[in-house]
Amino acid sequence: MASTISILFFLASFLLAPLPLQSADPDPLQDFCVGLINATESVNGFPCKPASAVTANDFSSDVIAYEGNTNNPFGSNVTGANAMAFPGLNTLGVSMNRIDLAPGGLNPPHSHPRATELDIVIEGTVMIGFVTTGNVFYSKVLRKGELFVVPRGLVHFERNIGQGKALIFAAFNGQMPGTVSIAPTLFGAKPPIPDAVLSKAFQVGTGVVDEIKSKFSS
Ligand SMILES: *[C@@H]1O[C@H](CO)[C@@H](O)[C@H](O)[C@H]1NC(C)=O
Ligand SMILES: *[C@@H]1O[C@H](CO)[C@@H](O)[C@H](O)[C@H]1NC(C)=O
Repeated sequence: MASTISILFFLASFLLAPLPLQSADPDPLQDFCVGLINATESVNGFPCKPASAVTANDFSSDVIAYEGNTNNPFGSNVTGANAMAFPGLNTLGVSMNRIDLAPGGLNPPHSHPRATELDIVIEGTVMIGFVTTGNVFYSKVLRKGELFVVPRGLVHFERNIGQGKALIFAAFNGQMPGTVSIAPTLFGAKPPIPDAVLSKAFQVGTGVVDEIKSKFSS
């Protein structure tokens, strides 16, 4: 019996191998589904606002029209126009971020578990890089109008290496890309990840772990 099952799995893996992977948001089942972001029910996405209540304003947003305040330790500010901030995007499989960077500013290493990111530099000179699952680091210095793509899920960063401000717009093939910020995820989780775990993982003493935790605890 067990061997019959493993033979079936073996055959199934060959049959399924040539199928394209489903790697984007699910296809919509209607023209639009403007998200009701405070609905008490939740689905995979947001439930739809009644079509009779939808207006042109639901398909427009100014959330990324304004510069973010970069007066913080990283010198960066990310503003998201995802389905939560711009409910008209619900079920449509796209979204955008605005990334403002002060001179020397860094959007620290992070990943987007649910979307590939396509960056366009609008202003300034930036270094963008990502690391593969095989620990290969790919990076480029980009100027106005140039593009850089970050494959879904990979850890990446954006850094302003120019003299003035930098501005990047990032497009995503997902309505809610999600962000895993490496340092806050590990050192600012609530409740905290035990020091013993982080001390062993990073091969440093717990004093170093506590120092980093103190910067990400709020
Ligand atoms: C839904 O939440 C937003 C803030 O996220 C709030 O401004 C709005 O008033 C809420 N709408 C309803 C119907 O509760
Ligand atoms: C980003 O900018 C907005 C708008 O100025 C501001 O409210 C917010 O606190 C800033 N975030 C950070 C992390 O500095």
